[in-house]
Amino acid sequence: MKRFDAAEFRSHFPILNRTVHGKPLVYLDSAATAQKPQCVIDVVNELHTSLNANIHRGVHYLAEECTALYEKARSRVGQMLGTDSREEIVFTSGATASLNLAAYSLAEMCIGAGDNVVVSQMEHHSNLVPWQEMCRRRGAELRMLPFDEEGRLQVEMLDQIADERTKVVAVTQCSNVLGTKPDLRAVIDCAHAKGAIVVVDGCQGAVHEGVNVRELGCDIYAFSGHKLYAPTGIGVMYARRELLDKMPVWLCGGDMVQTVSFEKTTFAELPLRFEAGTANYVGAIALGTAIDFVSEYNQTEMERYTQSLYTQAEQALLQIDGLKIYGTTPDKAPILSFGVEGVHPYDVGMILDKLGVAVRTGTHCAEPVMSRYGVSGMCRASLAPYNTPDEVEALVAGVKRAVRMLR
Ligand code: ALA
Repeated sequence: MKRFDAAEFRSHFPILNRTVHGKPLVYLDSAATAQKPQCVIDVVNELHTSLNANIHRGVHYLAEECTALYEKARSRVGQMLGTDSREEIVFTSGATASLNLAAYSLAEMCIGAGDNVVVSQMEHHSNLVPWQEMCRRRGAELRMLPFDEEGRLQVEMLDQIADERTKVVAVTQCSNVLGTKPDLRAVIDCAHAKGAIVVVDGCQGAVHEGVNVRELGCDIYAFSGHKLYAPTGIGVMYARRELLDKMPVWLCGGDMVQTVSFEKTTFAELPLRFEAGTANYVGAIALGTAIDFVSEYNQTEMERYTQSLYTQAEQALLQIDGLKIYGTTPDKAPILSFGVEGVHPYDVGMILDKLGVAVRTGTHCAEPVMSRYGVSGMCRASLAPYNTPDEVEALVAGVKRAVRMLR
């Protein structure tokens, strides 16, 4: 493992050298998608240049090589998540597909009329809407686990909200709006005591905290590659082997079957029965490369550095009259959502953009979080280890300027 050196880390990301509207790019939207290091860009290019062939289908050299790399990437993901059982790692097109797979399959497996699903109030739509839709279809009830003003998930309320008819508790490891990291241990213990399955959205958590699914004891864990320096279009659903064995298939098609006749189809072994169609093997292999890349660095140093950028931004932004930061729990991830009284977040975002500063504006795919605070949207600066103190200064100067212009 190498020591984390911010300038050295940044040097791997060519896009960060570009300009936008004639200004140096200040990319503060990594919670939406992370930029890609050169090694990931290269591996995608190399695969298309000299190794491309569909996997699991051919006996020819390229097919075998690609298949081997794909399966190696699966093992790498398993290692990252803390499981040596490759069958538990299902490649999907992203966390949204992973969570839809989980919702569809679990609904068919065990959710019926009179049952309920508990979802936290801070979930991204991708860990809320699939459950809502499944509850509607199955005649089940959707229940909400709320968070408080500072953005802390009120885990102690789960014991009253969940009951013996609770089939699933769906919760994020880290809120994409508030940066909050709920007490997953408490959620899992309480949910399991009621006999419920726990589904964790690890999109931001995989980046800022990492996970050991075996130690954590969650039943399902989903994340996307693109927030972890890999290309878009690749994601993972981890599920405990005993659960996965019982889960009905979702997408059907090629590669997920053993035998097919007009009378009956039998399905492939795990995890392939959940990977219908041509897999995004290029994305999966590049995800393996991205995990290798980021794992080289001391994670604690890297996160401490990113946290220091957050603190710098927080202290400076709070000097602005009427500015409110949403999500103020201690130990939160470096995701900074804010609003300024009397100023629309889109307008702030547009002015920042003209200054080369990229932030996300809007509901951040988490409308219930906006409703909780009674706002229509927020600005969000999400920090990554490739950001710099100068970039934080550019953000703060940009917000000040926007507020001066808009008020
Ligand atoms: N989930 C991504 C975000 O929070 C897209 O921006």
